Amino acid sequence: MGNMVQQKTLFNKCYNYTRADEVKARGIYPYFRAIEESEGPVVRMGGRRVIMAGSNNYLGLAAHPKVKEAAIDALKKYGTSCSGSRYLTGTIDMHETLERELAAYMGKEAALIMSTGYQTGQGVIEPLISRGDYIISDKDNHASIVAGNFMSRGKGANVVRFKHNDMNDLERRLKRIPYESGKLIVTDGVFSTFGDISPLDDLYQLAYQYNAQVLVDDAHAIGVIGEGGRGTASHFNLDQEIDLVLCTFSKTFASLGGFVAGEERVINYLKHHSSAFIFSASPTPPSVAAAYAALQILKSEPERVNKLAYNAMKIRRGLQSLGFRVLDGQTAIVPVIIGDDEIAFKFWTELFEHNIFVNVFISPATPPGKAMLRNSFMATHNDEHLDKILDVYGKVGRKLGVI
Ligand SMILES: Cc1ncc(COP(=O)(O)O)c(C=O)c1O
Repeated sequence: MGNMVQQKTLFNKCYNYTRADEVKARGIYPYFRAIEESEGPVVRMGGRRVIMAGSNNYLGLAAHPKVKEAAIDALKKYGTSCSGSRYLTGTIDMHETLERELAAYMGKEAALIMSTGYQTGQGVIEPLISRGDYIISDKDNHASIVAGNFMSRGKGANVVRFKHNDMNDLERRLKRIPYESGKLIVTDGVFSTFGDISPLDDLYQLAYQYNAQVLVDDAHAIGVIGEGGRGTASHFNLDQEIDLVLCTFSKTFASLGGFVAGEERVINYLKHHSSAFIFSASPTPPSVAAAYAALQILKSEPERVNKLAYNAMKIRRGLQSLGFRVLDGQTAIVPVIIGDDEIAFKFWTELFEHNIFVNVFISPATPPGKAMLRNSFMATHNDEHLDKILDVYGKVGRKLGVI
C-alpha cells in the first residue's frame, strides 16, 4: 500500500451531497430535531414547550401511565431484550398472548408480530410470492411495501404498479394477467403522505373477480378509522373479505414493532418462511407490553378514536376557512399544500418559533411544486392546543402571503 492514497470513489456521492448543509446554514432545516421530554401533545424541544402536531402517536398512548407502567413491569420481569429470533430463543409468552389478542381484535384467525412495521411489509410480501406470481401495487404505497416488492422481483416475481387509487387502471392491469396466476394486490389503507383512504370496496370487487388476494397496510388506519378503530377493511365493512392486514406498533400502539393478521394457514406459513421474521431478533419485552397495554385501552376506550377524528376535522375545517389549501379527508393526517419548497421551510420555521411542530414534506416525498406541511393529530390534543395551532397558522399564512 505504501504511500498510495485511496480514492474512495464509492463515497464521492456522500462528499458531494450538500443540500442538507445548505438548508441548515440558513437556519431553516426542519429535520432530526431532538425532543428532550414528551407528554404527548406537548413536548420539550430546545428547552421550550412545543405543541406536537406531527406525531403518529394517534391516540396519545405513548405517554399513557398504564402503557408506561406495563413496559416497566415487562422490563423487570423479562429484561431489556429477548436476545434472539422468535424461531429459537426469542419467544416470550407475551408475544403469543399479544398475537392472539390482535387476531381477535381484527376478527382474523391468527396474527404474527415482527420487530418493526417496515420489516413487516417486507416480511409478509417476499415469502408469499414465488417465481411467476404477480404483485399489483398502488404507486403511492409506503417504502416498506416497495422494499418487499423489490425483494420479490429478485425472486422472479412480476411487479406491476397501478395509478394511485385508480380502480380503472387497476382493472386494466389485472385483465392482462392470466386468471390462474398467483396475485397479490397491495395497498396502504390510509396513505401516509396525504392521509387519503384506499377505495377498498371497489378494489376488493376487482380482486375477487380476477382471483387476487389483498394485503392492506393499515399503519395509519388502525385506531383511526373503522368500527372501534379496526382500520380500513372495517371502514368498508370488509373485515372478513380482506385477506391480510398489516400494521405497525409505532403509531396507535405506542410502541415499536408490527404485525400481520389473516388466515391461520397463511400466518403459519409466514412464521416458517419469512426471512425478515426468522433472521431478526424479536420485539423487546417492553415493546410488546406497551403494545399490549395500548390494545387494551383501544378496546376499552373507543371514544379516543372519535376524539381523534374530531380533532383532525376541527383543524381541517379551521384551516380551510382561513383560506389554506387543505386536502379533504377523514383521517388523522391533515396536509396543507404550500407549493414552493423554500416557502414551506420558512413556514415551518415560523411555526416552530411560535412553539408548534409539524412535518415538512418536499419532493420526492411529494410531487414537484407540491411541498406541504403535514399535520397529524392525537386524541389527547385539547381545544386550547388546536385553537393555538389555527391562530398561528393564520398569522404566518398572512405574513408569508400563503393565504
Ligand atoms: C404506511 C406505513 N407502513 C409501514 C410503516 C413502517 O412502520 P415502522 O415505522 O413501525 O417501521 C410506516 C411508518 O412510517 C407507514 O407509514
